[in-house]
Amino acid sequence: MEKVIIDGGTKLEGTITVSGMKNAAVAVLYATVLAGDVCVIENLPNISDVVISLEILKSVGATVEYISETEVKIDTTNVLDKMPPDKLTKKMRASYYLIGATLGRFGHSIIGYPGGCDFGVRPIDQHIKAFNALGADVSTEGNVIEATAREGRLKASNIFFDCVTVGGTMNAMLAAVLAEGTTEIENAAREPHIVALANFLNFCGANVSGAGTDKIKIKGVEKLHGCTYELIPDMIEAGTYMIAAAATGGNLYIDNVIPKHLEAITVKMREMGVTIDEYDDGMRVYCEGPLCNVDIKTSPYPGFPTDMNPQIAVLMCLANGEGVLTDTIWDNRFRYVEELKRMNADIDVEGNMATFAGSTVFKPARVRAVDLRAGAAMIIAGLVAKGQTEIDDFFYVERGYDNIIEKLRGVGAHIMKIG
Ligand code: EPZ
Repeated sequence: MEKVIIDGGTKLEGTITVSGMKNAAVAVLYATVLAGDVCVIENLPNISDVVISLEILKSVGATVEYISETEVKIDTTNVLDKMPPDKLTKKMRASYYLIGATLGRFGHSIIGYPGGCDFGVRPIDQHIKAFNALGADVSTEGNVIEATAREGRLKASNIFFDCVTVGGTMNAMLAAVLAEGTTEIENAAREPHIVALANFLNFCGANVSGAGTDKIKIKGVEKLHGCTYELIPDMIEAGTYMIAAAATGGNLYIDNVIPKHLEAITVKMREMGVTIDEYDDGMRVYCEGPLCNVDIKTSPYPGFPTDMNPQIAVLMCLANGEGVLTDTIWDNRFRYVEELKRMNADIDVEGNMATFAGSTVFKPARVRAVDLRAGAAMIIAGLVAKGQTEIDDFFYVERGYDNIIEKLRGVGAHIMKIG
C-alpha cells in the first residue's frame, strides 16, 4: 500500500494555499441530484472523496465533465433512484447524502451502508428520524438503506435532533427542499459547510433560511434548477497547516482561508504561545518562544473541531507542561495515540480523554495512518522528528488533503510518496 517517507527536522517556511472544503464538496456534489439540471462546481479539492462521489453520481446516471482540475460540470437530468455500487458507497461516509437528495427528488432512495473513518460507533438514527418525520419509511435490512415516501412526495415537518449532527442536518435539508410545505430543523449543526450547502441549494432555487444557526427553516418548492457554485476553503486543511507551521518552528503564510471559521483553533494556538497574524483571507503562523500546554474540549462549531483532534495533539506533545484533550463528539478518536507513542510521545488515554505530559522530543519511526486526520497528524510529527519517518496507509490522507505532498515540499519539507 502507499506510504510516505519524511526526512524530518526542517522548519516549514513560505506560503501554502488552502483548497476547497472536503466536507462542503461532498454535500454539494450529492445535492446536484436535486437540481435535475447542469451544475458547475468550482474550487473543488482534488481528493479521493470527491473522485469517488463523482463516480457514484455517474453510476446513477449523472454525466460529469472536468472543466479544470478544480472545476467540474455535472448534469443530473437523467439521474435515477437506483442503487449505486456498494464497493463505492462504502469507501466514504458522505455517500449517505445521496439518500436525502434522491429521496427528496424521487420519493425513493436505496443505497448500501456508508463507510468512513473508524472512530467508534457512527449511527444514522438521526438521519432516519428526519426522513421519518418528512413522511418516509426507512428500512436498513442487510446493510442496505431504503427510504420511500409514503405518499409519493415528502411532506414538511418539524425535526428536533437529539444531538447536533452535521450529516443529519445535511440530509434533512436535502430531503426537505422539494417537500410539500415548510420544514423546521431544530438543534441543527452550525458548521460552515452547513451554510455552504444551504447557499448552494438557494442558488438552485430552494428556500432555505437560518443555516449557521441551530434553527433552519426550509420552504419546499416544486422544482430546482442548475447553478454555478464556488466552494468555501477547507478550515480543517488550514488548521492542519497552522499546526505544522507551529510544530516545526517555522513561519507559514496560509492563503485562501476565512479567519472566522478558524477562530476556535486560533484562540487555542495563541493560548499555547503561537503567534498568528490574521489577514482578510490569510493567516501568518509562527512561534517566537516555547509553547505552553492547554486543556481542550472538542465541540460542535463554533467550538474546537473534533477534526483537529489528532493535529493539535502533536502540538500538545511538544508544549511544556501537562495538557488534556477531551473529544466530546466521537467515543474512540484516540487510536492515533499508539502511533505517536512509537515516536516517543507520552500520552495517557482514558475513554474520550487524553492527557499529555508535554516536552516530547519526537523520534523518527515507522508508523501508520489510522484514519484521515490521524494520518495528517503523523505527517506533522514526522516533519518534526529529526531523521526518517515512514507512514503507511497514506491513502487515508489522500481522502481529504489536496496535493499535500506537493504543498509541503513547496515550503521546505523533505517528504515523498512511495507506492
Ligand atoms: C461529519 O461527520 C464530518 N464528515 C466528520 O469529519 C466530522 O468529524 C463530524 O461531522 C463532526 O464534525 C463529513 O462531513 C463527511 P455527525 P458526521 O453526524 O456527519 C452522533 C473528517 O475528518 N450521531 O456530526 O458523520 C455521532 O455518533 C470527518 O472530515 C448520532 O448519534 O458526524 C457523533 O457522536 C471525520 N446519530 C455526533 O453525533 C446520528 O444519526 C456527531 O456526528 C448521527 C450522528
